[in-house]
Amino acid sequence: MRRKIVAGNWKMNKDLKQGLELIDEIVNMNSAEDVLKIIATPFIHISLAADKLKDKTDFAVAAQNCHQSNAGAYTGEVSAEMIRSTGAAYVIIGHSERRSYFNESTSVLTQKVNIALGNDLTPIFCVGESLDDRNSNQHLEVVRQQLKEALYHLSPADFSKLIIAYEPVWAIGTGVTATSHQAQGMHNFIRSEINKKYGKDISENTSILYGGSCNAENARELFSCLDVDGGLVGGASLKAADFVAIANSF
Ligand code: 13P
Repeated sequence: MRRKIVAGNWKMNKDLKQGLELIDEIVNMNSAEDVLKIIATPFIHISLAADKLKDKTDFAVAAQNCHQSNAGAYTGEVSAEMIRSTGAAYVIIGHSERRSYFNESTSVLTQKVNIALGNDLTPIFCVGESLDDRNSNQHLEVVRQQLKEALYHLSPADFSKLIIAYEPVWAIGTGVTATSHQAQGMHNFIRSEINKKYGKDISENTSILYGGSCNAENARELFSCLDVDGGLVGGASLKAADFVAIANSF
């Protein structure tokens, strides 16, 4: 179901004590209850974070990745089933940092989406173009292919469980945010592509988040766009006051 969502992607930041303190700080501040706050911690924190937030209907916990197999001899990896067993309910899949630093291919991402859904985890599926793609006016086509190749095998029932995050690679961690015009343009394009494949009902009910240097200053303008349903926030999610200010920006 389409709803207002702010998800904090901590990436590889915060030791266990710092992470749990950050969650306490966030929870103790006043944040809009009609906004779902998702906290994507490193694996180390997930179980304790999920336990802390289990009675809060406006908070949820996400993993930042999962392995594409159910179980087995994959040293160092974590399965969707394990994540689900902690009480976390979401998993980020297809983040550009995983695509580029860990060579995650479309076929791996497809398997990850399938295994997440099979274990009752909601994928937050990331798409987004590079600066070269945008400068050469290929951004719409790149995002169209990312959606099509990794997701269009899904049944309508499964697709409707997803959250989509548009994260232009050139805006991640750079301090350069997409303008609200650029964000709305791409979000509207993504929704219209979903409409073409899955129909109006599903496209209108898909939550599409913006990510890339989203902060307490620019969130209000971004979230006021018709097709922007919230944010996937990196750096600014590491400070409680900023994360809560962003969640209160609708
Ligand atoms: P920043 O907000 O630090 O640009 O990171 C965005 C991001 O990658 C969230 O997944």
